[in-house]
Amino acid sequence: MSGRIDLAALPHDFLWGTATAAYQIEGAVAEDGRSPSIWDTFSHTPGKIANDDNGDVACDHYHRWREDIGLMRQLGTNAYRLSVAWPRVIPGGRGPVNAKGLAFYDELVDALLEAGITPSVTLYHWDLPQVLQDRGGWPERDTAFAFADYAAVVAGRLGDRVKLWTTLNEPSCSAWIGHLEGTMAPGWSDLTAAVRASYHLLLGHGLATGAIRAAVPDAEVGIVNNLSTVHAATGRPEDLAAARRHDGHVNRWWLDPVHGRGFPADMVDTYGVELPEHPGDLETIASRLDWLGLNYYFPAYVADDPDGPAPRVRAVRRPDVPRTGMDWEIDASGIETLLLRLTEEYGARKIFVTENGSAYPDVVRPDGTVDDPERQDYLERHLAACAAAARKGAPLAGYFAWSLLDNFEWAYGYDKRFGLVHVDYRTQVRTIKGSGHRYADIVRVHRGQARRAA
Ligand code: FCB
Repeated sequence: MSGRIDLAALPHDFLWGTATAAYQIEGAVAEDGRSPSIWDTFSHTPGKIANDDNGDVACDHYHRWREDIGLMRQLGTNAYRLSVAWPRVIPGGRGPVNAKGLAFYDELVDALLEAGITPSVTLYHWDLPQVLQDRGGWPERDTAFAFADYAAVVAGRLGDRVKLWTTLNEPSCSAWIGHLEGTMAPGWSDLTAAVRASYHLLLGHGLATGAIRAAVPDAEVGIVNNLSTVHAATGRPEDLAAARRHDGHVNRWWLDPVHGRGFPADMVDTYGVELPEHPGDLETIASRLDWLGLNYYFPAYVADDPDGPAPRVRAVRRPDVPRTGMDWEIDASGIETLLLRLTEEYGARKIFVTENGSAYPDVVRPDGTVDDPERQDYLERHLAACAAAARKGAPLAGYFAWSLLDNFEWAYGYDKRFGLVHVDYRTQVRTIKGSGHRYADIVRVHRGQARRAA
């Protein structure tokens, strides 16, 4: 059994949420004028996704969103993190706005507010319009400007009701996994392209931040990074140096520039790729942020890999440690460490845990219930660690469980289930899992405490 959750350490107006992303849940990929994204292309390329799954139908959320808001109400959550699909809103990537695409999110936002659920909108959760990929994608500077134009359109439409805005979700995955490791869309393995993509993603973040603020003066804008605690697998100096490089690769490369510290010089050296920098870019990238989003899943243990590709680091799998169904090591203390690091090292004034969760192979029992004690334990441990960080001074303002629903888990397809709610993909029947009921209890207790204290 996991540790006690010190709920009293969390602020009274804490946001208790769930998170999803457009391509993972919506389906309806060819409806109402949506154009293909790089994930449609990638998932329809044989051999890229487990079982050759794709997001054509996913959770059919595009048609079942009312029912899904009903589930959020059952969970008692007061916030919901969703992403907007760029190819629904501007199918050409740039230029004409698709009224029907925008109307979908408009209606969704109204219904969330009616249900007492605060929407938090992410503009980019990896679904670049394929037409922009065809013009070079994120390695090209123009994509950053196209992103800011798109941000202005969405903020202009939803900004009277939506105050919490995220520019990018996990740009490190877009850049490193998409352009270097090649196991996510667009599926490249090209260091120069990856570094250029990383640069233009952050430039796009800065430009979009300005565009959102121009459209919504009282917007609270943030960026969401997936960060890891990084440990050297041994005390060898080479492995310690590798750990430093890995920290640069997954953490500092994404945090330093947005905090006005520029791109970490040691990593610029490590990559050996010239940055496509124009005067003024670094200031744009460092536009003021209202909050930081932390996605946390697992710690990293790494060793030197002298002959490997930059950053010449290999992951070391530790034996005999607890793991989730993703084979990801479970270490709840990592979330506390990272929340405190953002607070102390980066001076964060507000932090949301924008994703955290675990996959297990759940089954619906004959009595119609889904019992998932391991996910419940993961949830409790990580919430306890979040509360511990808050107790030590981290300005934690909310927690969004990944995910509301089982969904299309990128290269893993539908095999990996992260939901607090089980989805039967044959029938689209949704069933709240044991962990979902437990989350609802925790939310209820904290909100009760907060009400009594108010
Ligand atoms: C994160 C992604 C999210 C989901 C979780 C498991 O990296 O942001 O879409 O796939 O991992």
